[in-house]
Amino acid sequence: MKFSPQKAVYEVTASEVLAPGIEIGIENGKISCLGTSLPRDDRTKIIDAKGARVTPGGVDSHVHFAQDNSPTGDDFTSGSRSAIAGGTTTVIAFASQLKTETSVIPCITEYHTRAKDKSYCDYSFHLILTNPTPAIMQTEMPLLIKQGITSVKLYMTYEPLKLGDSQLLAVLMAARALGFTTMVHAENSDIISLITDRLEAAGHSSPYFHAISRPQIAENEATYRIISLAELTDTPILIVHMSSEIAMRHVRKAQTRMLPIHAETCPQYLFLLSERLKGTEKDAFEGAKCVCSPPLRHDPKDLKAMWRGIANGTFTIFSSDHAPSTYDHAGGKKLGLKDGIMRYKNIPNGVPGVETRLPLLFSHAGREKDSKLSLQRFVQLTSSDPAKLYGLEGTKGNIAPGYDADLVIWYPETEVGEGVVIGQKMLHHGVDYTPYEGMKVKNWPRYTLLRGKVVWDRDGEGIVGDVTAGKFLKRGKGKIVIGKTGGEANGMLEGERDFWY
Ligand code: URP
Ligand code: ZN
Ligand code: ZN
Ligand code: ZN
Repeated sequence: MKFSPQKAVYEVTASEVLAPGIEIGIENGKISCLGTSLPRDDRTKIIDAKGARVTPGGVDSHVHFAQDNSPTGDDFTSGSRSAIAGGTTTVIAFASQLKTETSVIPCITEYHTRAKDKSYCDYSFHLILTNPTPAIMQTEMPLLIKQGITSVKLYMTYEPLKLGDSQLLAVLMAARALGFTTMVHAENSDIISLITDRLEAAGHSSPYFHAISRPQIAENEATYRIISLAELTDTPILIVHMSSEIAMRHVRKAQTRMLPIHAETCPQYLFLLSERLKGTEKDAFEGAKCVCSPPLRHDPKDLKAMWRGIANGTFTIFSSDHAPSTYDHAGGKKLGLKDGIMRYKNIPNGVPGVETRLPLLFSHAGREKDSKLSLQRFVQLTSSDPAKLYGLEGTKGNIAPGYDADLVIWYPETEVGEGVVIGQKMLHHGVDYTPYEGMKVKNWPRYTLLRGKVVWDRDGEGIVGDVTAGKFLKRGKGKIVIGKTGGEANGMLEGERDFWY
């Protein structure tokens, strides 16, 4: 095998994910071969990763960048900069349809404009469908699939976004016919409204009551309901950002029946508790920093339950749900503080996490006796399974010939010492806080490579990638990772099957 002089070849050696001593050959941004003693010449660029672990670049399939509903949050530039500094090389963000829009095409065009030439990492979009008209499903969705947008997110709560059961069913039927992947935000909207009204009448409106207003039963009911609708229509789904043990058990039960019910959880549901919503002694409103939905739960047992789902395979995906708003800004989290009165209802939902996602989970992955998951599970959850579920298999999420050379090179254990203490000062997002301030992680990406180029060099200049380097990824149809549908054991439905209904 010969490498032409113009082509860079990086070699990465000695990891636990690849057998120690394996080198990774890269040509034209793709992994060309794996082996020992790969051929090289004096133009060959070599990264010595001796003693390091090398994992595929992170695929964060749930981030909110440049969305209208969080004007003080991250745009593509700050969000993707934060992504690569934390080892994530692909993000799937959202293009959000307004309920008043009867076509989704202008919306998609608009979000393309918001991302093009403004991203450090590769990106794609899920469509948030808020007004699923027959015309959109019949004529626009097939068009979007051709354009490489092969997934939608549906909301069962939030007044401006939510769909009723008949609308959910209509989208699931269209998903079955066309083969797009359906993500669902499962919380019972009416339960939340009822409690919110009663809390408000009783004068309970500080950030902590956000968690009281969205009890686990709201998530449990909606989760069971959407699983039922998905089973009825024989359609694969993914339930996003899960936080409740009973809801997770509904998922597990469905999976043991071989239903293609996928689930996702996020760092906030593994590491943070609702007491954070009480803020500090000096300032109760600081709790606003941790307002997200579903809310942080009350009991350490709740965190443990989510860890079990991470380790035992109930969760297919570990995403960030990066959806922050700036804290110290009249148009950000402070929307919930007016004339000295705190109103959790007005605090934009969501926490930052795209940069800390991989280091937080990696700290618990491995073979040490306090580890919670294997390194292989870590890679599945953070990279390879999101790539498969959302139609990026063959390109992203694997260290294998033919795949994009998106790699994370972690520090060798001998070099990490006491680990890294997370702090706002070291992060690259555009917002002014992290809920993980002061938390210690064992390791951090030493290098991040995007399509063979170093874009993050922690001991060098930090961000060394190019803000125009991120490419829009035209995705294929997603592949089922868990379970099967009535007719097919793998691969989403192609529309050629007959149904009585
Ligand atoms: O609190 C959150 N997660 N806000 C972002 C929107 C969503 O539901 O994912
Ligand atoms: Zn729009
Ligand atoms: Zn959501
Ligand atoms: Zn989200």
